Amino acid sequence: MQGLSPSARLRIEELSARYPRKRSALIPSLQIAQEEAGYISEEIMVEIARMMELSPNEVREVVSFYSLLHQKPVGRYVIQVCTNISCQLCDAEGILRHLRRRLGIGPGETTPDMKYTLLEVECLGSCGTSPVMQINDEYHENLTPEKIDCILDGLQ
Ligand code: FES
Repeated sequence: MQGLSPSARLRIEELSARYPRKRSALIPSLQIAQEEAGYISEEIMVEIARMMELSPNEVREVVSFYSLLHQKPVGRYVIQVCTNISCQLCDAEGILRHLRRRLGIGPGETTPDMKYTLLEVECLGSCGTSPVMQINDEYHENLTPEKIDCILDGLQ
């Protein structure tokens, strides 16, 4: 895996120049890196740490905290299923079980064709419409197994 491209480096430098402390630009910088490579490799974490005047561990902690930042290659569709309390009360376990069966993978895994990655996550902030999942940037709410089949059938 290679590091950041010159254009990504430039975007990150421009971004961090807008803040009094470079580290304030850490999350958007990680998003730029992920946009380019699909995930944030160890090499990129070290490179960004240097640019933000942080330790590689500080960057690793941030990357591992946010479920939208990936440390390894992910599928074209990243499916995040909330299993926090409100969703749990509305059968999030059944939703997750259905997705496991349908995709043939468990949480944290990616299908061999690199189409889907399944993740179990904390509250997605849409508790009133539980159970909820997010596929890439899109929310899907009030889920049922039938609704999930319909959503997955609609993905190319
Ligand atoms: S608990 Fe699932 S969205 Fe809040």
